[in-house]
Parts: sequence; structure tokens; C-alpha cells
Amino acid sequence: MQGTEIIERAERLARHSDSTAHYTRTFLTPAHRAAAAELAEWMAAAGMTVRTDAIGNVIGRYEAGDGNAKTLLMGSHFDSVRNGGKFDGVLGILVPVACIAQLNARGERLRVALEVAAFSDEEGARFQTGFLSSRALIGRFDPDVLERRDADGVTLAQAMRDAGLDPAAASSAAIDPSRLAAYVEVHIEQGPVLLRSGAPTGVVTTIAAGTRHAFHVTGEAGHAGTVPMPMRHDALAAAAEMVLAIEKRCGAGGSLVGTVGTLRVKEGSANVIPGDVEFTADIRSTDDAEVGSAVADVFAACEAIAKRRGVRLEHSKTHAVQAVPCAASLQDRLAASIERCVRGGKAPRLHSGAGHDAMMLAEVTEVGMLFVRCGAGGVSHNPAETVTPEDAGLAADVLLDFLRNF
Ligand code: HGY
Ligand code: MN
Ligand code: MN
Repeated sequence: MQGTEIIERAERLARHSDSTAHYTRTFLTPAHRAAAAELAEWMAAAGMTVRTDAIGNVIGRYEAGDGNAKTLLMGSHFDSVRNGGKFDGVLGILVPVACIAQLNARGERLRVALEVAAFSDEEGARFQTGFLSSRALIGRFDPDVLERRDADGVTLAQAMRDAGLDPAAASSAAIDPSRLAAYVEVHIEQGPVLLRSGAPTGVVTTIAAGTRHAFHVTGEAGHAGTVPMPMRHDALAAAAEMVLAIEKRCGAGGSLVGTVGTLRVKEGSANVIPGDVEFTADIRSTDDAEVGSAVADVFAACEAIAKRRGVRLEHSKTHAVQAVPCAASLQDRLAASIERCVRGGKAPRLHSGAGHDAMMLAEVTEVGMLFVRCGAGGVSHNPAETVTPEDAGLAADVLLDFLRNF
């Protein structure tokens, strides 16, 4: 199977969406379950034994020539952001499956066993549970998340039961990390660097640190027509000023970025001064200390705005990952494979501003990442996200070369 079939499969898998209007696939919805079943079929057809673990990960295994060999784990996620792109995560499942299908067709066995994990919840879009399923795989499932509720008030525990999973058994998804040789993730770059450099693939050096915070601004709801402006405690106007303060502080340069991705006026009406507003802030950098400093400055700026406007501000951290260096030896091996497989052999090395399941696996084994060029200016988390069949095929060639030489 080469690039064209990989792309066709990604397009096909995107049919399993929570929405008929756009591609959205969130944790344990019916569409998510259907996608899991199709991935399991493709893994089995590639000659793998397939299991679904206690948190809904679908894991295919292709034995080594030697039964005592360690396991090289590969994979990525098959959930998405809302109205997302169909290659984010999914490409990192389909490319290794394509490689194993080729090995299986030739009856070829390697020095290591191969596993491909289709992670069930990386984006955390339904329950705000980023990296939930890779975190569970490394034995760090936090049972507190079971009480988190989605927008319809369904708890994560109930969603698991509805999907035939036992919430009390979620921690049993943990694997024995001592049997891992390494973890390698193929992922679209989700940026313009490879596109601008004319390289179809690249090697990731560092994955940026990231934190996410939930902000809650409480002002005083009032009649839009009767409260004089100087007397207002407008929660939305305060939040809007805070959003601009976050944008300003995170515009300081380097790899620091800050994003307010959601903002909600609770029980809002056109003729009511907003009294209750929630928003989220996502702040990242390849430098952990820079994230810490930006977050402290953002909190101070927002608290000053709240004080001046006479509104109450509460905030809580919902997600935090430290910057992760990719193992130098895996970087070099991936670069060598690119040089052998890609005409012109350019193997750019670049950091990842996006977070990946590799950040969780890095807590238990060495990790490497292979980036694949994005088209459409490098856009991602957007339905315009795209990858060419040629680049998908080249990524499979590079990964297969990497596996054979591992
Ligand atoms: O947010 C991220 O970087 C990833 O898409 N979860
Ligand atoms: Mn993503
Ligand atoms: Mn992703």
C-alpha cells in the first residue's frame, strides 16, 4: 500500500464524524467507535493481532523473528478537534500500518516486534482530557477525570460504560514499559516549515511545553438599557481585555505562543450585561521556564484587570506538559532513513509547537518523531488540512527503512 491508499483511508475514516456538517470525532462517541472498528480491521488485514485496551486504544502487534525481542511502539491518535483536519493523528496510525502490511506480504520479520497504537483520546475535545489515552497506557490514568462532564452533562465514566468499557478498569490499560525498545510517531507537521523548505519529511528535535488554564470571570448581570457605563461590572468586557492581555504577553517572540480557543457567556442575552464568562488559555514554548514566566505575567495582568473592573477572577490549570527532547539516536536514525529514501536526501530538523502522544511515552522510553509536510500553507486544526499521496508514500518508505535498520 502506498501513499494513495493511505490518503484514501484517511478520507474514508473521516466519514466517521460526530457531525454531518464537518469532521469532528471525539472520545467514545458512536463515530469514534466506528472508526476504532475500521482501524482494527485494517490492522488485522496487515497481519497484526489486534486488541482494544481498557481506555479504548486499538493496538495492533506484529511479532518479531525472535519471541524474546523488545517492542518498537508506534502510533498516534484517532480523535480530533472540532471541525478539524482528517490527517491530524490518523496519518500516524495509517503509515505504520501500511509499512507492516508490506512486511507481512513478504513474510518479513524484524529484530523487534512492532506495535501500532491508535490512541483514543489525545485532543481531549469532549472532556478536556488532553493525552488521556496515552497517559493511561504509561500507567498515569487519573481517576478524577471520570467525573468530568461533556457539553451535554455526560460524565466520562458514563461515556465509557456506554462504549462497553469499565471505568473502574481504566488503569489496567497500563503496559510494562520495560518491554519497549522505543516509541516513534509519524505526524503531519501542522505548520509551514517543511512546505517552505521543499522537504516532504523532517525530524523532530523538541516537542514544545504546554499548559492550559480555565478562567472564570464573575461580574454583575444587569439591564443593558438602564445601568450607566461607569457603574457596570461587565464580565465579558473584562474577559475581552484579558484575552488581549494574553495575546500581547505571548507575542513576546521566540517559540512562545498563547491562544484563547474558547469563550462562553453563560446564560447570555442580547439585552443583558454579561455577568458570568468562562474562557480557556493555551500557552506554549519549547522553553519550560518561558511558559512559567508567561503564565505568571498573564495571571498578574488578568488579576489587575479584574480588580480595576470590579469583577471576580478564578482560574485553574487543566493541562500541563513539559517540553520533550526527542532522543538524539532516534533523530539520527530517522534522518539517515530520509537521506536514503528521499531524492535530494534533505532531512530538516525542527521543533514541534504542537503537542503529541510522544510526550507521554517519553516518560517511559526514548521517543522520536517523523514529520510529514502539510499542504495548504501548513494549516491544521482546520478542515483545509491536507497531505499529498506522494508525501504520505514517502513517509511510509522512510519509516519502513527506519524499521528495517532499527
Ligand atoms: O494541542 C495540541 O498541540 C494537539 O493537537 N493536541
Ligand atoms: Mn491536534
Ligand atoms: Mn495530533
